[in-house]
Amino acid sequence: MKHRNQVFDNVLDLVGNTPLIKLNKVASKFKGNFYAKVESFNPGQSSKDRIATYIIEEAERKGILTPGATIIETTSGNTGFSIAMVSIIKGYDCVLAVSSKSSADKIDMLKTMGAKVYVCPAHVSANDPRSYYEVAKRLHSEMKGSVYINQYFNQLNIDAHYASTGPEIWKQTEGKITHLVACSGTGGTISGTAKYLKEQNPNIKVIGVDAFGSVIKKYHETREFDEKEIYPYRIEGLGKNLIPTATDFDVIDEFVKVTDEESAHTARELARTEGLFVGYTSGAATQALKQLGEQGEFNEDDYVVVIFPDHGSRYMSKVYSDKWMQEQGFFDSINEAAAQNIEYIK
Ligand SMILES: Cc1ncc(COP(=O)(O)O)c(C=O)c1O
Repeated sequence: MKHRNQVFDNVLDLVGNTPLIKLNKVASKFKGNFYAKVESFNPGQSSKDRIATYIIEEAERKGILTPGATIIETTSGNTGFSIAMVSIIKGYDCVLAVSSKSSADKIDMLKTMGAKVYVCPAHVSANDPRSYYEVAKRLHSEMKGSVYINQYFNQLNIDAHYASTGPEIWKQTEGKITHLVACSGTGGTISGTAKYLKEQNPNIKVIGVDAFGSVIKKYHETREFDEKEIYPYRIEGLGKNLIPTATDFDVIDEFVKVTDEESAHTARELARTEGLFVGYTSGAATQALKQLGEQGEFNEDDYVVVIFPDHGSRYMSKVYSDKWMQEQGFFDSINEAAAQNIEYIK
């Protein structure tokens, strides 16, 4: 892996080796030492650059991907962006089947990165031929030599973090890490990182962050898939309404649930207090850290690493929009929003 003061052949050389940055303010009232692994320093501005490069390079190594082939995935989020970026550099076609719920901004971003985007109706069931799952499966079967990334059910998603995020954190903390706090969506990040770290020191405590409205925490505790846990929530990339095989529940010690509202305010607090402009789930992970701190989870010498998955710029029309915050009822009053650091000169 190269260092940042060198010259790079292309952007993919910059994937991984993200910095560990001390959190000096948000958790200062708790005992312990807190550090963020800031994944927005990846060239595609999220942790998903790791899985995109790893999975595609594995497919090349195994001879599954041949020059000019097509790579398919079903996401309008960070993974779609990263796959599109890797595809450009390596000369593949990238096809993304996304839900019509995806914002126009996201679809424009993916198109800008050279992806062919299929926008599929959001209101149909998963097994409807028009759903983005079914469209991706059909395209995969029709396109000879194509590769379907399928991040929720791909073991390589875990392996990517086992091979990079885990070893990086172990080295950066000089083996001193005592706790890992990470959001769980596909579960790849937390599972692969935790597996590596626990092989080095089985006493490291691994805490997953889940959303209210997701089945993951309850499944971890009971191994029961409880549909009653499912209801809509706003944080994207965290929690799920199914059980992904890319989550290794055995390496995770416990899950903490966080609310949309507290996570949004904590994301804003990270910008204001630490100067870290990061995504909604980074706010969620820090919110979980605070809840754990309140419960007295940490001691003086603890070395806590929290993973920040992506950059704040992807949330300008959400968490970082006062209008959106108001619409969600996350500001007590219009005045609270209006009073935030803005003055109009007439
Ligand atoms: C913004 C964001 N945060 C957190 C996650 C969770 O990471 P993982 O899918 O590895 O569990 C994702 C991925 O879906 C994401 O896009």
